[in-house]
Amino acid sequence: MGMNPKEIVSIKEFEDLLIKATNTANEGITISSMDQIDRPLVFVNEGFERLTGYTKLDVIGKNCRFLQGKDTDQSTVNILRLAIQNGEQATVELLNYKKDGTPFWNRLSITPLKDKNGITTHYVGVQSDITELRETQKSLKSANKDLASFQNKIKYELEEARRVQNFILPSTFPTTAKLSFASVFEPMDQIGGDFYDIIEIEKGVFGVLIADVTGHGIQAALLTFMTSFAFKNIALQTSSTAKVVTETNEKLYNKMPRGSFITMFYVVYDSNTRRLSYTQAGHPEGYVVRANTKEVISLTSLSPLVGAFSGETVTYSESTIKLEIGDKVVLYTDAILEVWNSDDVMMKREEFTSFLKNNSKLPIKELLDSIKSFCLKFSGKSSFNDDFTMVGFEVLN
Ligand SMILES: Cc1cc2nc3c(=O)[nH]c(=O)nc-3n(C[C@H](O)[C@H](O)[C@H](O)COP(=O)(O)O)c2cc1C
Repeated sequence: MGMNPKEIVSIKEFEDLLIKATNTANEGITISSMDQIDRPLVFVNEGFERLTGYTKLDVIGKNCRFLQGKDTDQSTVNILRLAIQNGEQATVELLNYKKDGTPFWNRLSITPLKDKNGITTHYVGVQSDITELRETQKSLKSANKDLASFQNKIKYELEEARRVQNFILPSTFPTTAKLSFASVFEPMDQIGGDFYDIIEIEKGVFGVLIADVTGHGIQAALLTFMTSFAFKNIALQTSSTAKVVTETNEKLYNKMPRGSFITMFYVVYDSNTRRLSYTQAGHPEGYVVRANTKEVISLTSLSPLVGAFSGETVTYSESTIKLEIGDKVVLYTDAILEVWNSDDVMMKREEFTSFLKNNSKLPIKELLDSIKSFCLKFSGKSSFNDDFTMVGFEVLN
């Protein structure tokens, strides 16, 4: 149980306390009389004296407008005038001047005191010095403005980087009666590290690459450039996938920032012999989907990722498989394997491969599009969290 507060017993005691409280307050407290000519101040507390530098003797009997000066905003003064005319309350912020001429920002609130007939007899004014607050607000505002323009600049540059990044993707696919190529590329808002490429190495021999560079943002954009140029230079010289990946690794190793690397899946298809050779470098397995038998064959060569290890310590192997008319080759990045449904359950590999099996008759473009819809449907979302990239082809002839 707490102690009972000691009650104020006499009016005198109450008045003393009130005066003490009024004078201790940091704010200026003023009372002006409304039924005397020019509405003079009849009371100011010590807070007012401390705030303005004027003494009671200086100001009692005068209208409080003496605090105003050349830079006081007249429309704000008007608000006060109108409020007083209408017997209403008002709160404003206006520039006032101390006795020594120093300007200060005054947050002033004036409140009418009315008699029992509703006639305003007095006004109580409360003044607070908000100069520092105003200055902080001003510098915050300008800092915010600077930040916003900086942010816009960065956003613009990121958009540019992404636009330029799209140039490394093939704008058209090689035309041939023997094959039909297709791709799906859904970059997320940020710059991501996925890309793919399709090249014709020699007549009827095609290279198809899918790659995923670690990270996002400008760094990923630069690394995709570097990787794509290194790859293309080498890939146009040879049809050995292991050689291309080995040399790409040698070119990039030492040039990559610490901790970054690339995973890639590279296939070369010779449409004259229908031989597919491939190298899987730290990347998810590829698939051959057989239209006739509905088989789904996984393509693995289990080689290390690219760019992180010196050529002396890694070897990239190459495997081959013979394709048949109607076969489809499907390559993708890990976003496909990392789709989660709303119960936080990840898609199982078997769910994905049985989807491929059930849709093995679809033409390649439709197959890729339906994989995308399947993954979206599984995740229950309308877009992917990560880059979503697939590339593939179908043997027509
Ligand atoms: C109680 C009270 C306190 C006031 N305090 C201030 C003040 O601190 N600073 C100020 O510039 N004006 C203050 N004013 C406003 C002026 O006294 C005056 O009402 C205002 O300048 C508009 O009237 P005018 O057009 O006759 O000048 C106060 C008014 C009242 C009623």
